[in-house]
Amino acid sequence: MAFRYYDAEGIKNKMPEFKGTDEELQEKIDEISLLYNSAIKELDVKLDVLSDDFDKKYSYMPIHHIKTRLKSMDSIIEKAERYGIKDPINNLDTVRKEVFDIGGVRVICNYEEDIYIMLDLLLEQSDIKLLRMKDYCKKPKDSGYRSLHVVVAIPVYLVNRMALVPVEVQFRSIAMDTWATLEHELRYKNKGELSDEIQDNLKDCALQLAKVDERMSQIRHEVLDKGGEYSTY
Ligand code: GTP
Ligand code: MG
Repeated sequence: MAFRYYDAEGIKNKMPEFKGTDEELQEKIDEISLLYNSAIKELDVKLDVLSDDFDKKYSYMPIHHIKTRLKSMDSIIEKAERYGIKDPINNLDTVRKEVFDIGGVRVICNYEEDIYIMLDLLLEQSDIKLLRMKDYCKKPKDSGYRSLHVVVAIPVYLVNRMALVPVEVQFRSIAMDTWATLEHELRYKNKGELSDEIQDNLKDCALQLAKVDERMSQIRHEVLDKGGEYSTY
């Protein structure tokens, strides 16, 4: 079970090596919670506004839906250990500098082309800073996984200071999300292990879905060219 995010006592029971008091640990956890929850909320609103304005201008909403999540404390610690950070519970400031997906936003667009439109519109905003980008649409992972990942820093204004908070944003088409969601579920159900045969089969499904994605996009353009319901842009 994941740690209860706000409960330092629960975390300390699991992480008895924390050197400070319960109050000090709670303070650190509350800070992470406030900053990252605020950052993903801000991004959620920004993307929603863009999609609404796109609809107003072009009678089309490129975003199908958005999901946000805050990584659980135990996943953060587990990842920090995987990244070679020693004693992460006593070095949460280092963890925050190296683990970029404590805050996560998933943007599910209708078509692959919408991904790049939304990405450009987001990156054009002067308060958004691009920290890194991995385009697994153009170059899928070995598993077959497709998606566009960016880490952006977004300012969060508090009572007496401003913090730049990194958030991982994953842009996917509906088809990409379908595959990733089902594959993740299957892998998780099987404790992360899948036979070579199953992996090949899943990779083939990813390839087929990528073809379907492209065909659906072509159909869409045919419909639009024939004076379909919404305008081209
Ligand atoms: P991590 O340390 O695993 O986060 O690797 P990384 O920092 O290099 O990040 P990467 O760009 O590989 O993206 C990791 C995230 O992308 C995961 O948390 C998943 O949400 C998603 N992801 C990456 N590969 C796969 C995959 O093969 N299948 C599924 N379902 N999701 C994937
Ligand atoms: Mg990552």
